[in-house]
Amino acid sequence: MDRKRFLKISGSATLFTLTGGITWLLEGCMKKSMKIAKAISVRTGNFDNPLRLPSIVDGSIGISLKAKKNTTSVIKGKNSVVLGYGDSILSPTIKVNSGQNVNIDFKNQLEEISNIHWHGLIIPESMDGHPQNKIVPGSSFSYQFTINQRAGTYWFHPHPHLLTGKQVYKGLAGMFIVNDVEETALGLPSGEFELPVIIQDKRIYSDGSLNYSPEPTDVMNGYFGDHICVNGSWSPYHNIKTKIYRLRILNGSNARVYDLSFTNVSNFYIIGSDGGLLAATQTVSSLMLSPGERADVLVDFSSIALGTEIYLQSNSFNGGESQGQESFKVMKFIISEQVAETFSIPTALSTFTLIPSTSSVKTRYFEIANDHSGGHGGASSSASIHKIGGKSFDMERIDETVTAGTTEIWEFDNSNGPDLHPMHLHGVHFQVLSRTGGRGVILPHESGWKDTVLCMPGEKVKIIMTFPNNPGKFVFHCHNLEHEDSGMMLNYKIT
Ligand code: C2O
Ligand code: CU
Ligand code: CU
Repeated sequence: MDRKRFLKISGSATLFTLTGGITWLLEGCMKKSMKIAKAISVRTGNFDNPLRLPSIVDGSIGISLKAKKNTTSVIKGKNSVVLGYGDSILSPTIKVNSGQNVNIDFKNQLEEISNIHWHGLIIPESMDGHPQNKIVPGSSFSYQFTINQRAGTYWFHPHPHLLTGKQVYKGLAGMFIVNDVEETALGLPSGEFELPVIIQDKRIYSDGSLNYSPEPTDVMNGYFGDHICVNGSWSPYHNIKTKIYRLRILNGSNARVYDLSFTNVSNFYIIGSDGGLLAATQTVSSLMLSPGERADVLVDFSSIALGTEIYLQSNSFNGGESQGQESFKVMKFIISEQVAETFSIPTALSTFTLIPSTSSVKTRYFEIANDHSGGHGGASSSASIHKIGGKSFDMERIDETVTAGTTEIWEFDNSNGPDLHPMHLHGVHFQVLSRTGGRGVILPHESGWKDTVLCMPGEKVKIIMTFPNNPGKFVFHCHNLEHEDSGMMLNYKIT
C-alpha cells in the first residue's frame, strides 16, 4: 500500500476517535504498533476437522436465542472463546414456511449492546434490527413478524452501531431458511443432502483466541482472517455420498470476498441467490461471493469415484490492492459411500418478472469510490474513511425518502475506487440492472432477486427495485463490516 495513503488514513482515523467515534479503533491503534500491515496470508490446515452442522429449529413454534459467550473448538484440539446464539459458535438454523408467524425471544447476555437484524427479510421497521434498536446487556426483545416472502436462504446477525463487525466476527450469525410450495415442488436435495456452508475468515492466535482489534489498515481494507472457517470450524471435511447435494452458501465474513470453485467438479449449478430461486439454473465453473451474499447451488457428486477428495477452494482474482492475491482451500468433501442417484438438475426453477427499467420513477446516484489516495480530503476534512455519496452514518438523519409501491433505480459508482464494496439494502429486494467497468457484466448468480451486490474497484452498478408497502426507516450500507462500522451506511425512509 502506498505510504501517502496510509498516513492520511491514520490521521483521519485518529480524528474520528477524538470526535467521539469508535473507541475500539483507538484501542487498536494504541495497543499495537502502527505498522503497515501486509495482506494477511491464509493458513491451510489438514482438513481433519469434522464439519459442524447447526441444528435446525422450527421458527414458527416460538424460539429463544441468547447472545452469549461460549467456549468451543474452532481449530481442532484448541478451545476458543467465541460468541454464539446457542451453546457454541454461530446459531441453530431457523427454518419457516412462507406465510408463517415467527416469534423469537432474544436475550442479550453480552456485556455490551446488541440486537438482531434479519438480513433479507422484509419485515416491519421495528423488527428489522436498525442500529437504533438497542438491546442493552441483560435485557430481552421479542422479535415477532410474519414471513411474507418467497423461499430463500436468508440470515441474521447483530447490527448495533459501531459493534457489528466485532460481534459477527466473534461468532454471532445464523441462517434463516424460508420454504414455500413453489420450491418444494422441485423436490430439491434435502436432509443430509442439503448443507449450510457459512464461510468466514478468522484471525486465530496460537492459544486459540480470537481477537478483534482492528488497526487503521484493517478499517481501511476490512478485517481479514488467516483461518478460513466453515460453520465455525477451521479446515473442515465432510463425508458425502455419490449424490447431488444442495449447498446453501453464505459469505458471512467481515470483509473477505471468495471466488469459489470445486476440484474434480468442473461445473456446478446455481439455483438461487439472496432472494430465493433464480428463474433458470445457471451452470458455472466459479462463483464470486462477497460478504452478505448467498448462493444456493447444486453440486453433482454422483459419478465421482469412491474415496475421491474434493476441495471447495477460493481462487485468486483481481481485487485491487486489498483482496484476491491468494488462492486457498476452504473445505474438503470425501466420497465415502456409493448410492444410486435418481434426481436430475432442473432447468426451469421459478417464474418472476424482470422489473422493466422504464417503470422507474427516479434514479439516485451514490458515489462510493472513497478515493482517499487523491489530492483532496485527508485528515482535516473528513472524520471517516468510507462514505456513501460523501456522507457518513448519522443515526437520526434521513438521507433518502422513497414512496412505497414505486420503482427506482439506484446507481453505486465505484469507478474511481480502490476498495471492494458489497452494497446492501435493508427492507427491499432488488434486481441488478447493469454493471459497467470492471467485470462489466451481470453475473449468473445476479440474475434473480438480490439484497447485496458487489461493486468491485472500477465498477458502476445499477439496481432496480419496487419499494414494498412497509413504511419506516431502514439502512443501506456496505457489507464490509469495518466499512459499515466506520460510517459507510445511510438511512432511507419508505413513506
Ligand atoms: Cu447483513 Cu445491515 O446487514
Ligand atoms: Cu440486511
Ligand atoms: Cu465498503
